[in-house]
Amino acid sequence: MASQLGAALTLDQLATDPHELLARLRSGEPVCWVPALDGWLVTRRDLCVQVMRDPSTFTVDDPRFSTAQVVGPSMLSLDGTEHRRHRDPFATALGHGQVRERFTERVNEEARRLVRDLSSRGRAEIRRDLAGPLAVAVVTAALDLPGVEVGTLLGWYETIVADVDLLSRGAPATGAGQEAVKEMGAHVRRSTASRPGLLAHARVGLSDSEVVSNAAVMMFGGIETSEGMTTSLFWHLLTNPAQLQMVAADKSLARQAIEESLRLEPAASRVDRYATRDIEFAGASIRAGDLVIVSLSAANRDPATFVDPDRFDLRRSNAHTHLAFAQGPHACIGIHLAKLETLAALIAVLDLWPGVRLDGEVDGPSGLVFRKPRALPVLWGKTDLSSP
Ligand code: HEM
Repeated sequence: MASQLGAALTLDQLATDPHELLARLRSGEPVCWVPALDGWLVTRRDLCVQVMRDPSTFTVDDPRFSTAQVVGPSMLSLDGTEHRRHRDPFATALGHGQVRERFTERVNEEARRLVRDLSSRGRAEIRRDLAGPLAVAVVTAALDLPGVEVGTLLGWYETIVADVDLLSRGAPATGAGQEAVKEMGAHVRRSTASRPGLLAHARVGLSDSEVVSNAAVMMFGGIETSEGMTTSLFWHLLTNPAQLQMVAADKSLARQAIEESLRLEPAASRVDRYATRDIEFAGASIRAGDLVIVSLSAANRDPATFVDPDRFDLRRSNAHTHLAFAQGPHACIGIHLAKLETLAALIAVLDLWPGVRLDGEVDGPSGLVFRKPRALPVLWGKTDLSSP
């Protein structure tokens, strides 16, 4: 039975301006049936952690999971020992030390190149000109597929996302997504046969098709999210100019700005699970098979953990305890790479676009699952840029 608040929630409200509604749910009914989502929405931070840390009760392994229908079974759609078999080789290769050693220089160089190439223009749109291209370049570098250009990978990605999108809206997939996975598979096989690296390493414990599915999931997991993470960081700083000044004056604050931005607007606002059994959970009677949605957005503004939770505050000491990368067995394996990428973009902009500021009115982050500002036009320098 839906509560009044849950029953009244619309997808549009959740996509555009969800935070006040989520706050009301969190204090009144922290596990609430929401008909518009056809699932339970979990909004209190401690309960969100409980769900993500209990895969035997709340699993990802369900035939309704649309990503798996397109890319095949992968770490994203398995639990238990099978999940670990799929995940471990990738997670090890993306650990902190490995990422720092193998990617720091490349990612910094790519970010600087993108920013430098735009410098003489005096204006740019952060999402499309910087955050998006950087995210695709970083995933392309991480997968290290010989002969695969950034544009090719982006094409596969967009095709797969389009089919996953159709399936999650209840429509049949076109089949183009599976074709893209197949085409990607041919390159993955060539890579595992010819060079050492992430994919060859994964090949030791996984079959060819399993490596391909997990490689597709890396691509799927690393592009839209990182684009959002970087764009939202700039949005938070540009709409809080005093705090932008603080970071510009002391770049050691950049990491803190990233954590605080992730807290306020996690690029993936939710993760989905399916109940494996009937369970009474924080007053809710969840039935086996029910969809249980963990609202990372709501958890990250829980006042029980974060004082004055709606405020962007560079000095917040526990910002890093946000759940933007989830927790438990499915916690993001791209954390270090994503943070390196966003930091590289911020430092490059602060170094090369002096006086960077918003170019007109902008809307804040929006989106039902993946949240980001749709566009973030900026300008820099002291000259009058009003004429073209
Ligand atoms: C280079 C960038 C990234 C890569 C390669 C990447 C890759 C992945 C992969 C492969 C998983 C699945 C792990 C598993 O199921 O065991 C995952 C999970 C996840 N990632 Fe990332 N990711 C990246 C960036 C991000 C960013 C920027 C965010 C959000 C700020 C994010 C949020 C998440 C979340 C919330 C999950 C958990 C999904 C769930 O529990 O169902 N990721 N990531």
